[in-house]
Amino acid sequence: MALAEFDLAIFGGTGDLSMRKLLPAMYSRDRANDLPPNARILCIGRHELSNDAFLQQLDKDARPHISMEIFEPAVWERLCKRIQYVAMDATDAKSYKALVAAMRPDPTVTNVFYLATPPALFSKICRNLSSSGLATPNSRVVLEKPLGRDLASAKQINAEVGKIFSESQIFRIDHYLGKETVQNLLALRFGNVLFEPLWRREWISDVQITIAEELGVGNRMGYYESSGALRDMLQNHLLQLLCIVAMEPPVSITSDAVRDEKLKVLRSLKRFTPVSLAQNVVRGQYRAGHVNGIAVPGYRKEQDADPHSRTETFVAIKTEVDTWRWAGVPFYLRTGKRMADSLAEIVIRFKKIPHSIFTQPNSSFESNCLVIRLQPDEGLHLNLMAKTPGDGMRLKPVELELNFRESFKAPRMEAYERLLLDVLRGQLTLFMRSDELEAAWEWVEPILDYWEQEENEPIPYSAGTWGPAAASALIGRDGLQWREEALPEV
Ligand code: BG6
Repeated sequence: MALAEFDLAIFGGTGDLSMRKLLPAMYSRDRANDLPPNARILCIGRHELSNDAFLQQLDKDARPHISMEIFEPAVWERLCKRIQYVAMDATDAKSYKALVAAMRPDPTVTNVFYLATPPALFSKICRNLSSSGLATPNSRVVLEKPLGRDLASAKQINAEVGKIFSESQIFRIDHYLGKETVQNLLALRFGNVLFEPLWRREWISDVQITIAEELGVGNRMGYYESSGALRDMLQNHLLQLLCIVAMEPPVSITSDAVRDEKLKVLRSLKRFTPVSLAQNVVRGQYRAGHVNGIAVPGYRKEQDADPHSRTETFVAIKTEVDTWRWAGVPFYLRTGKRMADSLAEIVIRFKKIPHSIFTQPNSSFESNCLVIRLQPDEGLHLNLMAKTPGDGMRLKPVELELNFRESFKAPRMEAYERLLLDVLRGQLTLFMRSDELEAAWEWVEPILDYWEQEENEPIPYSAGTWGPAAASALIGRDGLQWREEALPEV
């Protein structure tokens, strides 16, 4: 579907997200000829800067994030012509005159306000957009995470933004939903008959979802220290992945049909009690160690760190989805910084065969396992048992592999490219609805409260490992292992 003409105004237009993700995403879409001829991007910042000076900044800060393989000077020049820098104070209503003057009031032009700012500014910016006449029924607002820091602040954001924009105008970003493999998970489940009959407690023994990063907190200490892994990754990205794995088939791919089903999953997650919290949640913090052979400092020694910080950089959780489909199936979630590898994957482990007819020694039986890889490569791996060639009947696990990059030679789209296109099209399926956001916060809130009251510190783990031993013990109590612990050494 061709896009209508648009003006995209980015609050926080000089910031990290804008430079690293949003503007490079717009470059790629411009290169693919998706942008209408007169589409414009207004980058908003506080400092008085000429347009030329801002374009020089883009050259330095945004351009390096465009891969050389796709960089074409003519496309970059075309993109730069669309960009206008607007100097204003987003918290000051009087300042909005500059934005009003820069935007086209034409009702055929879609006006999008992307709030890549701290959440504390969301309400104020929306009120100012309203009082300056910019918030019209045709405009859209994009809210970048973190969407609050607990249930109360998320509710407040929803209520305040909801006074100005209707739900169909609000796009709450979780960039994991824009990833190719997450979409492929929908295709796998609902575009094939093969898995859905098995996608239930009778056949699935457990589900693991891991997002591990080798990176530390870098220069984001200010944000991270008040956030931590639970708020930064688990409340949003991991729970969204869990929802897509566990949801019932939606009646269609329309936004509310999908979001209704995700909401039901969030509402059926087993609630924590103080006892179950102590048993089922592990929080860790990295100490000095080696990542890829390079010595890295511990979290408390990072630049600008609080030397006594209790912020978690790792969290592992065991939960259950209390529905007929999933009753009794454990879901293990885990995420951390400065881990042994950078990967994001969902592991669906099926039950053991009910009875073995193979008695030959040396057969190594494993349960079938479906691994959905989001990062670094995108693909599916299915472990099956097969006969080892030769005499006798010895069985061994083998892998069926599907690599999406090799199977589809089509050009890739980064998550932010897809999500920005969806905003411009007004397509809400890949964005969180207000009730979903609140249900996710409601579920994590007891963990936050517990950590707040608890005097214990996060468990230390060495950088470059898979987190504290307590995370292995969490899953080990059920006779299981995290996938990488179960893989043979290579
Ligand atoms: C962001 C978090 O939402 O996701 C970061 O704030 C994290 O801390 C990032 O590094 C991970 O995203 P991706 O797409 O690189 O896996």
